[in-house]
Amino acid sequence: MKHSFKFFFLFLTVILSCKKTETKDCDDSLSLYSKAEFPIGVAIEPYDLLAGTRNLEIVSRQFNSITAENVFKPNNLHPSQNTFNWTEADEMVNFAIAESKRIHGHTLIWHNQLPPWMNSFEGSTGDWEQIFKDHIQSICHHFKGKISSWDVINEAFTDDGNLRNTIWKQNIGASYLEKAFLYAHEADPSALLFYNDYDLVLNEKKRRAVIQFIKKLQQRNIPIHGIGLQMHISIIHPDNSSIAEAFQEFSELGIKIHLSELDISINPLSKSLNLTDELLEKQANKMAIVSYHYQQIPKSLRYGISFWGHSDAHSWIRSFFNREDYPLLFDDNYEAKPVYCKFYESL
Ligand code: G3I
Repeated sequence: MKHSFKFFFLFLTVILSCKKTETKDCDDSLSLYSKAEFPIGVAIEPYDLLAGTRNLEIVSRQFNSITAENVFKPNNLHPSQNTFNWTEADEMVNFAIAESKRIHGHTLIWHNQLPPWMNSFEGSTGDWEQIFKDHIQSICHHFKGKISSWDVINEAFTDDGNLRNTIWKQNIGASYLEKAFLYAHEADPSALLFYNDYDLVLNEKKRRAVIQFIKKLQQRNIPIHGIGLQMHISIIHPDNSSIAEAFQEFSELGIKIHLSELDISINPLSKSLNLTDELLEKQANKMAIVSYHYQQIPKSLRYGISFWGHSDAHSWIRSFFNREDYPLLFDDNYEAKPVYCKFYESL
């Protein structure tokens, strides 16, 4: 990257960081999505919909796009070969419809959170293709007309840019990727279809591989409409110029860009932590940078910014990394944090 470019990003960072958040203009009786020019989403669990709870109040007031954090995943929706469990997913969809919120489906095909029967399935390539197609199309048919978009494939590439050795690759071959998009499109032609992955900003090698993959699909007229950049980021990484660069590169593909699982860790090195105002301010500043660069993307390509949860109390990061962290917009008591205020201000 040229020096003048680096200087520009440094300058921008200083400007965005120096702008003090006006707390008088920021309390959570405001609404993020009412102010934004693009959808503001959140990942939810069934307990977020319990009547009379603060969770429900936050989800309802702040967000207009919903992703299920877990209930749409294969192990939950498709527990045995001939059984689908729609109950919790339908409840979320009904809630979203009643509140005029968008539902983004996550995720049809992944290597993780698979039901045991799928993992241990034995059969010919044809048998594997059949269960693969049935899985995708039964789910797409069930939600047809109710779900706006799907993460068709989640995390198919490894950190070194190679194709992950999943059960789907092993038993169907690399063509499973394009087949998934074709089957999903056949079952619900109006749903927007996304490829979703992590570290596509931080890891340039992986980003190149995913961009090549998307270009290949586009050249062959395979229906792909968007990229999900998960954005599990931190106050340290990725640097601000990489954020700008990655958003720009994906924009050039002409597909929609969904920041699909945003959270900003303040303890990426898993240290023992003293939660200071300074750390919370750093987190808020990082959010302002992300929001600024997201708003440089052409409007028609902004599918929205979705957070991976709302309150720190329930973030996956604490249990997954077994560490203290505060990555979301609301604190453990469901109060808006500086990062919420700065984001609101940036919209
Ligand atoms: O299903 C059991 C449940 O029966 C039990 O009561 C509960 C007790 O802890 O555990 C439940 O399963 C957990 C599940 O979340 C539901 O809470 C699993 O152990 C746990 O591993 C699972 O974690 C999820 C993780 O994906 C699995 O890989 C996280 O909540 C979820 O936030 C996370 O989401 C992923 C995205 O789908 C893809 N991108 C990365 C992101 C973060 O890892």
